[in-house]
Amino acid sequence: MNSVSFRVFDSSDDAARELAAEVAELIRSRAAEGRNAVLGLATGNTPLPFYRELIRLHQEEGLSFGNVITFNLDEYLGLERDHPESYWTFMHRNLFDHLDIAPDNVNLPSGTVADSEVAAHCAAYEDAIREAGGLDFQLLGIGRTGHIGFNEPGSEKNSITRRVHLDPVTRADAAPAFGGLDNVPTYAITMGCATILSAKRIALLAWGDKKASIVKAAIEGPITDQISASFLQEHGNTTYFLDRGAASLLA
Ligand code: GLP
Repeated sequence: MNSVSFRVFDSSDDAARELAAEVAELIRSRAAEGRNAVLGLATGNTPLPFYRELIRLHQEEGLSFGNVITFNLDEYLGLERDHPESYWTFMHRNLFDHLDIAPDNVNLPSGTVADSEVAAHCAAYEDAIREAGGLDFQLLGIGRTGHIGFNEPGSEKNSITRRVHLDPVTRADAAPAFGGLDNVPTYAITMGCATILSAKRIALLAWGDKKASIVKAAIEGPITDQISASFLQEHGNTTYFLDRGAASLLA
């Protein structure tokens, strides 16, 4: 039987502290060996307490990100880097601007790549992850459709970085931030399920009652391409970090 482990915390801050300590240990142990740590990162509200704790560890406890290379999961297509809702902007505002990470070590898919260049851009993203040594760690949230990254229902387990059409549910969830549904991009570039599953260690974070039913389906339900997070059941080194609300429907 496949299974995935989960931990339940009193608060998202408690969960974020625990995970940040794990990631800090990875970064420090790699630095001691003169090696890089390769982190796959995520956007959304969910990772914010984790990013705040990483910033605190840097500012107050001297954790250096000088040996860290990052790859973000995804980016909206059609947004310039400096668009207020681009994931580039999000990541810099909420994390990178507050760390000593080298700008060249920060990787996100492009939101402005021409249609004719998308396939080559996605292949180059996969190559860059491989050349960096592969993902040591991948951070995930979960969308209401059960997506990880932007791997919407129908995304195959062997999918790699590619252009995807965003589900109406996902676009509706993003509409308030964009000031209306019409402003939400229709397409994105996302790491595929196989890209994510190649990470040596995966942590999926979810907070609040609103995530409880999709968390239950992803952890306890069948493995299906209708819920890309369900593929994590077969990964072998994934932990869900949950607060009580998100864990409330688990058996
Ligand atoms: C978007 C992101 C996902 C994220 C999801 C949930 O779809 N591409 O990576 O997990 O939103 O967002 P939130 O954490 O705000 O609930």
